[in-house]
Amino acid sequence: MKTIIEPFKIKVVEPIRITTRQERAAYLSDAYYNVFKISAEDVLIDLLTDSGTSAMSSEQWAAMMRGDESYAGSRSFFRFEKAVQDVTGFPIIIPTHQGRASERILFSIIGGKGRAIPSNTHFDTTRANIEVSGAEAVDLVIPEGKDPRAIHPFKGNMDLDALEGFIKEKGALNIPAVFCTVTNNTGGGQPVSMENIRGISRIAHEHSIPFFLDACRFAENAYFIKLREKGFQEKTVREIAKEMFSYCDGCTMSAKKDAFANIGGFLAFRDEDLASEARNLLILGEGFPTYGGLAGRDLDAIAVGLEEILDEQYLEYRFASTRYLAKNITEMGVPILEPPGGHAVYLDAVRFCEHIPKNRFPGQALTCALYLEGGIRGVEIGSVMFGHTDPETGEEIPADMDLVRLALPRRVYTQSHIDYLVEVILEVFAKRERIPGYKIIEQPPYLRHFTAKFQPIKS
Ligand code: F0G
Repeated sequence: MKTIIEPFKIKVVEPIRITTRQERAAYLSDAYYNVFKISAEDVLIDLLTDSGTSAMSSEQWAAMMRGDESYAGSRSFFRFEKAVQDVTGFPIIIPTHQGRASERILFSIIGGKGRAIPSNTHFDTTRANIEVSGAEAVDLVIPEGKDPRAIHPFKGNMDLDALEGFIKEKGALNIPAVFCTVTNNTGGGQPVSMENIRGISRIAHEHSIPFFLDACRFAENAYFIKLREKGFQEKTVREIAKEMFSYCDGCTMSAKKDAFANIGGFLAFRDEDLASEARNLLILGEGFPTYGGLAGRDLDAIAVGLEEILDEQYLEYRFASTRYLAKNITEMGVPILEPPGGHAVYLDAVRFCEHIPKNRFPGQALTCALYLEGGIRGVEIGSVMFGHTDPETGEEIPADMDLVRLALPRRVYTQSHIDYLVEVILEVFAKRERIPGYKIIEQPPYLRHFTAKFQPIKS
């Protein structure tokens, strides 16, 4: 088989600045060892997120020029609405400025004290919006989904027995919706099978509970189904995605992921009553229902992006990039969450930095080491993000896993960037015993990973 190449050529380039190790050491210390505080200009390869960081195509830029900025009933809205309806099959589409705005609106309506919303794994903004409403966010991923070493084709699947049990225990009337995140970002970008989606749908609907997808990376999930699930090889990704949505009552979406947009999102429904409540909240916080916090041109960029993401040549290249990165580092012994996800490779910091105890933040330590060594910015998904300091004892309560996510922005980096990345990771791995642990010297009460200050601990 021939090399899977980037299925695009480059029309516009954006220079990246090569820094010295000495400069990076200073930037890191000025940032209190928190890479969120480092200027993007001082980052060579930015793998902090795949959200809003995609390169738009010439067709998307052309569509932006056609954007209609009318306040109400703009042509851009109708093009956007039709594109989302075509891909999802949902009749009612409400634009929002990004995924968490969709979540905030939906959970303000269906959340509230005494209620619970199960999912395979809620993303952190989803969990936060559920909890702010007073409801409980519950993760019911299969056990393999919590073990970085377990190999399973659909590690994002929900544990269906646990879902049945949970509905019995909590009572269907207290569960306003069942959610499922595709792909399961917090659990390593792992896919959910069609069989599992059907199973969740059957159980939820037997109890008259609506079923929603968090559809941020729906196309990557559909492509995993095509590659890994029996009976889907001959289907197109578009058909598979449509089938995924067909089992659901609606979705929340961040168009900053699988719609190649730099900003945007939407809510989709089948139920007009719910949609009309959502529109009322939309007008309060986001804008009129035909623009929902976006410019007309953004709606056009999303409409085109949603078509482009279903291009299977693109998806083949996308998965080839993550697989190539994963293969080249695992062959040299670097521990990752297996198998690699669609949008990212997650380094397993616990095994990478065996000498650093969990209360000294191995994920944070590895994130800093990658920046120092090669100007690479990843993100800690571990005890800094999901753990907390016990207010009584001052003790650190760690997260289940300490990972460093290297998320690949869409259509942005080439194979030589990935080759460089491999070199840097292997270099850091060779010297891993010298990576220091960290302690927190200042932290806010919520979402501490964005602003906490750290200090290396020399042992
Ligand atoms: N759901 C999932 C699964 C996500 O990954 C994200 C964002 C959201 C919801 C919220 O969407 O950012 O548009 O408000 N994930 C980004 C990330 C931030 O880096 O993984 P948003």
